[in-house]
Amino acid sequence: MKNMITRYLALLLLPVLFGCSNLPAGAQENDDPRVEKLLARMTLKEKIGQMNQYSVGPNLTGPSGPQDGRYERFMKGEVGSVLNLVGAEETRKLQKLVVENSRLGIPLIFSYDVIHGYKTIFPLPLAESASWDLDLMEKSARVAAQETAASGVHWTFAPMVDVSRDARWGRVMEGSGEDPYLGSLIANARIKGLQGDDLSDVLTIAACAKHFVGYGFAESGKDYNAVNIGRNMLHNVLLPPFKASVESGAATFMNAFNDIDGVPSTANQYILRELLFQKWGYKGVVVSDWNSIGELVNHGVAKDESQASALAVNAGSHIDMEADAYIENLEQLVKDGIVKEEVIDDAVRRILQLKYDLGLFDDPYKYSDVEREKQIVGASEFKDIAREVAAKSIVLLKSENDLLPLSGKGKIGIIGPLAKDKDSPIGNWRAQGESNSAISLYEGIENAFGDAVQLNYAKGCDLSIGPNNFFEELQIEAEDRSGFAKAVQVARSSDVVLIVLGETAYMSGEARSRSEIGLPGLQLELLKAVHKVNKNIVLVLMNGRPLTIPWAAENVPAIVETWHLGSEAGNAIADVLSGKVNPSGKLPMSFPRAVGQAPIYYNKLNTGRPESDMVFYSHHMDVENSPQYPFGHGLSYTTFDYSNLVVAQNQEEVSVSVQVVNAGDHNGEEVVQLYIRDIVASTSRPVLELKGFTKLMIAVGETKKVEFKLTKTDLSFYDRNGDHVFEPGEFNISVGTSSAKLLTQKIEIN
Ligand code: GLC
Repeated sequence: MKNMITRYLALLLLPVLFGCSNLPAGAQENDDPRVEKLLARMTLKEKIGQMNQYSVGPNLTGPSGPQDGRYERFMKGEVGSVLNLVGAEETRKLQKLVVENSRLGIPLIFSYDVIHGYKTIFPLPLAESASWDLDLMEKSARVAAQETAASGVHWTFAPMVDVSRDARWGRVMEGSGEDPYLGSLIANARIKGLQGDDLSDVLTIAACAKHFVGYGFAESGKDYNAVNIGRNMLHNVLLPPFKASVESGAATFMNAFNDIDGVPSTANQYILRELLFQKWGYKGVVVSDWNSIGELVNHGVAKDESQASALAVNAGSHIDMEADAYIENLEQLVKDGIVKEEVIDDAVRRILQLKYDLGLFDDPYKYSDVEREKQIVGASEFKDIAREVAAKSIVLLKSENDLLPLSGKGKIGIIGPLAKDKDSPIGNWRAQGESNSAISLYEGIENAFGDAVQLNYAKGCDLSIGPNNFFEELQIEAEDRSGFAKAVQVARSSDVVLIVLGETAYMSGEARSRSEIGLPGLQLELLKAVHKVNKNIVLVLMNGRPLTIPWAAENVPAIVETWHLGSEAGNAIADVLSGKVNPSGKLPMSFPRAVGQAPIYYNKLNTGRPESDMVFYSHHMDVENSPQYPFGHGLSYTTFDYSNLVVAQNQEEVSVSVQVVNAGDHNGEEVVQLYIRDIVASTSRPVLELKGFTKLMIAVGETKKVEFKLTKTDLSFYDRNGDHVFEPGEFNISVGTSSAKLLTQKIEIN
């Protein structure tokens, strides 16, 4: 017992923990008198109750803990927030129970994972990121917020802002890809869309920047795996989107399940107290991930849930999601002097402030209005927005032989296990999106072309057999080729074939890491069989992650990346394939040629033996160095030619301009991308870093001059001490249509 207390006290002596005012490091005296007044009336147990969060209802999103005694805790005000309960009526009922029965009547916050839409389902976040259209992503988040808030829910666990470079990790579908700059701007857009200007507005909700931090770098892309990164990677790649989230006013943060170099993020003093609270001045709430406090025991840093609770709360995790750890242990820990009550008070102040900001003390039931729910949830105008966002998320990877846009005449063969699939486009984190509710590709083509074309259809093969849901592991069909004959016959009798292949909704997402990232099951065999009898193939991919498709890239003339596009998937795909919408998406994440290249990304270091196919230089013997499709890649039905790159330094800025002409025969949007390279610095800097982009419409024959400004802050990086520094010297300034097609000039900046 004695040495345990000593251990705990040793923990408490960790640097940074307490400032002179006896407040935990990074804690703030709250400036809202109502919070202080209420806090002063609360017992210790009631305070701890605010730090306790339970999942309620059927929409479980994690391995559920013991349920006994939970009802009583609600009645005694020992639950502060709830996740997974939705609906104006349901939330009103539980709110009433708590407000009317607990001593102080402190209202609950209701939370839910609204990741890409609530009822109207939008493209996966990774897909939306491919639009590079920040206004559109803000609009999409706003729709999600309206439907969520109208359903009585106050808080979503989004945006997920984890940078990731490893397509084996199933949750790449949930983020914004491999780049911290793009990820930071998208985080800002989504937070603004969700939170609007006033959190107390009944059509805005609190956002949650997650998972703080490092989750996207799970070793080998295996979900929940260890994370081994250094400070350079942490500060320059992983943290920027989180810092952007603080600057965007994200109301909450969520812990990551993983450790960083052996220290679990849920109990990590450095990232929480020192960085997030003290250095960044964050005043919001940090919620654990599902049972991530309890899992500190599995991590091997806590002997039991009591020690886990002490580590987590002293590090700065304010709310315990589904571990029942805080509510069971914190009172005793305070009595034993292992956790100071000031630490509890700091957490509870932040939680109460959030409830005041949401307007819940003015009216605990204001979001739970059945009439408003009926009007807003699933409103028809949201479908048009979903369709626009989906179309702009589509990336044209390859386009040859003038197959696209489709002529709209003759016989179109539609083949593949995803061609009529109305479920997979709804994606993995589908909230209240109904299963099998998407417009399928087949339906979209029918809607677009009607009787002008003859559609021939064959499924070809199944993709998965057995369960296909969030909770159960699916099995991939790899035996039954009985559908191939019909598919070949359809291909033989069609002028052009749309073959729709990829992944089902639950082949990516949480707990869906894959060791191979090719086309699952029999799909490649089916593609080859079809290709034998008809070369006029458009491969339409539906997937939640970059896939390895080397044979298709080599042999199929047209390839369109459509991800999982949500409720309006089929209509949006038809809008692009028919030419009604000229594709403008750009990859937010590199496509490897082979899984052995993972993690592969554009903003790599040069290394001492830069990539080359020469023997003693960085390369694999069995695959070339470049990705199949690079970051920022995306074609159009027209062509954009770049010229006249001008780079000049004046006073404190570098001005960059370039001319872009639409040299083809379709009006189209282009994403003009600006990259830098800091050629010599105190630490190795990436060979390319995205530092600006603009998406603009350029009409046929039109030339546009695109201009950028770079400040010394833009040219800075985090050095070994985690300080943001500018170091004078030579820089490459590059502008182009992708990270692999650039005009570059070198300039000395001092
Ligand atoms: C899950 C996820 C997290 C989600 C939470 C609540 O395990 O890791 O992103 O918000 O639990 O559902």
